[in-house]
Order: sequence, then C-alpha cells, then structure tokens
Amino acid sequence: METVRVGIVLGTRPEIIKMSPVIRELERRGIDHFVLHTGQHYSYNMDGVFFEVLRLKQPKYNLGVGSGTHGEETGKMLIGIEKVLAEERPDIVLVEGDTNTVLAGALAATKMGIKVGHVEAGLRSGDMSMPEEVNRIVADPVSDFLFVPTETSKKNLINEGVDPRKVTVTGNTIVDAVLQNISLAEGRGIVPEIGTGGYFLATIHRQENTDAPERLKRIVEGLGLVSGELGREVLYPIHPRSKKCLNEFGIPLCPGIRAIDPVDYLTFLMLEKNAELILTDSGGVQEEACILGVPCVTIRDNTERPETLEVGANVLAGAMPSRILECAKQMLSKRRMWENPYGDGHSAARIVDVLESQTR
Ligand code: UD1
Ligand code: UDP
Repeated sequence: METVRVGIVLGTRPEIIKMSPVIRELERRGIDHFVLHTGQHYSYNMDGVFFEVLRLKQPKYNLGVGSGTHGEETGKMLIGIEKVLAEERPDIVLVEGDTNTVLAGALAATKMGIKVGHVEAGLRSGDMSMPEEVNRIVADPVSDFLFVPTETSKKNLINEGVDPRKVTVTGNTIVDAVLQNISLAEGRGIVPEIGTGGYFLATIHRQENTDAPERLKRIVEGLGLVSGELGREVLYPIHPRSKKCLNEFGIPLCPGIRAIDPVDYLTFLMLEKNAELILTDSGGVQEEACILGVPCVTIRDNTERPETLEVGANVLAGAMPSRILECAKQMLSKRRMWENPYGDGHSAARIVDVLESQTR
C-alpha cells in the first residue's frame, strides 16, 4: 500500500518554527511531502533566518504574497495555493496555527476535495474581533484531522460538534521545537544582548495592541513603568508590524526599553531562558515561557492558551500600565514550579503516526 503524499502550507515565523519538527519527522520516515510557503512573512529576520537556523530545506514553492489587508493576503494565497495543489495533488494538506495562511490553506484544500490536517487545532480565545480567532473557527470544521495540543482544546472542538474521531491529542509541536533546539542554542556561546545584569524580555505584535494608537501608547508606558519601578532593562525584539505602528503614530519608547531587531530562533530561546520575566502578546512566546519555566505577563484581555494561566505560569494583564506593573510584581514573586501542559516533545511523531496510517 502506498503511503500518503503530504503538502505543508506555511507562511509566517511561528508556522516555520512549529512545523519544523513535523517536516523533520516526515523526512526521517521518508514520507513524500513538499512545502508551500505563502510568503506572508518575507523579511529575512522574519523568514529566511528560520530556515537557516532550523536547518530546513528551502520550500519547493514560495507564492511571495507579502503584506496587505486581510482580504488581499487571503485572496492572493487562495489563488496561488489552488494552482499548486492542482499540480501536486497531495492527499493531505497540513496547516499550523491561526494565520491568514492557515485560513487560505485549509479553504483551498477542502474545496478541492483534499483532506486537511490542522496542527494546533481547537484553540479558542472567545474573541471574534481577533483575526486569528476567525481563522481558527473557519479552519477547524473543514479539517479532517484535528491535531490538538491539550484536552482543553479537544473539549473546545467537541463542544462545537466536531466528530471526536477526527481529533488527536498530540501535545504542541512547540515543545518538540524547544527541546530540539535549546541545547543547540546553548552551544552557540554568549548572546551579547543578554548582558550581565538581569533583564525582562518583551514582544508585542498583535493587531489589537498595535493598530490602536492609544492602546499601543499605554502598553509602551506600561513597559517603561515596569522597567523604572523594578529596576530592569526591558529588552524588546521589535516585530515589523509594531515598528511600523510606533513610527506612524509617533510613539517614542520610554527609557529602560531597549528595542532590537527580531532575532533568530536560537538567539530568542536564549533571551527567553535567561529573562527574569517575559511580557508578551505572542501565542508562541506564552507557551515557550511556560515550557522554559520563565514567568509570563500576557498583555492582552484574553488568551487561547488558558493552560498557561491554570498552571500558574502566566497572567492576563490587559493594557493598563498600573495593571501591567502589578502583574509583573505578582509573577516575579512566584515560585517557578509549574508543570508544562503542552506535552513531552513527541507531538510531531504522533501527528506523523496518524498521517502514516492513512493510505492513498
Ligand atoms: C501574522 C498573523 C499573526 C501572527 C503573526 C506572527 C494573521 C492575520 N496574523 O501577523 O496571527 O501572530 O503573523 O508574527 O495572519 N511585515 C514585514 N515583514 C514581514 C512580515 C510583515 O515588514 O516579513 C510588516 C508589514 O508592514 C505588514 C505587517 O508587518 O503589513 C503585518 O504583517 P502580517 O503578516 O499581515 O501580519 P502579522 O502582524 O505579521
Ligand atoms: N521568536 C523569534 N525571534 C523573535 C521573536 C520571536 O524567534 O525575535 C519566536 C518565538 O520563539 C516563538 C515565535 O517566534 O516561537 C512566536 O512568533 P510570533 O510571536 O511572531 O507569533 P505568534 O506565536 O503570536 O503567532
């Protein structure tokens, strides 16, 4: 019996990182696959550098879609993905996460009668004003294989009427990625950004935080307040979206915040591991903080990663400076004793087991 042919659709920094263990596992087992990059992320420090440090082959296709409105990005992706899928005819298309790339990949495939596997399915913030929530809610019901990180995400899908037979609890491939790369990261030697005093690490990029000037201003003030009150520099690898918005709105960074360009994955793992505290609105960074045992303050009103709150690794701060400071103090006083809820680092193997059990 012939094994399946798998098409992997990815397009952004977190998808490259979280899909890398799956690609590696497909390669290891000699399963026929190809990678289609939509080009949603394209700057070297948001894209190319990850293929290099994760030692991934260049994608077979890159649609070069670039940035635009949600409709422009998704529309161009749909057209390009459909063409490639018509030529390649994979049996299963795999997508990862909640980006516009995921939405386009899942829609294009399902309408062509190609099965869809959604890695990191079942996450819900309950907030339909987030583009990511819309993408998740559309991608999950059209997926044939729902690879969920935790029992919580499985419950979300069952409550929405998804057939439980389609759902596999795999853990999150971010654990695989962290475990596969942390010793490589440590082995690379000194990371100059770490310095000698303690520091806090911040990342901010989510649409709801960057695109509203007042909210972005308050967040920057919050980071400045945390730095001033707690006597630590806030190291801030700045996402291009945030850089653009700060410039456009004329919001200066407060003293105590040190902005740097986005860094490669190995460097970022070291920045996370050595930070005393992480302040973020990133999904992947909330998970990695929890996995690496670093306390996290999430600068959002909700999270689709409630497991991190439940184990005590993370707290929701919203965007008011005083509340961000209060949460920073609260998390710094915690003992770092929580359990990692995202699995044992063998998520990719479980995903590929399911794919391998399918026949053409
Ligand atoms: C996207 C995802 C978000 C994810 C994030 C990961 C959607 C709706 N959003 O957000 O869920 O958390 O990626 O980082 O899919 N830009 C560059 N270079 C790049 C990429 C982007 O300069 O390589 C700038 C452009 O000005 C662009 C802006 O960032 O307009 C936003 O890019 P876009 O891909 O639309 O959304 P992200 O904010 O990156
Ligand atoms: N990351 C990185 N360099 C950076 C910032 C983040 O390698 O300068 C990694 C981080 O380790 C995590 C992923 O990017 O695995 C998170 O991506 P992002 O915050 O862009 O997206 P989200 O997870 O919120 O979708």
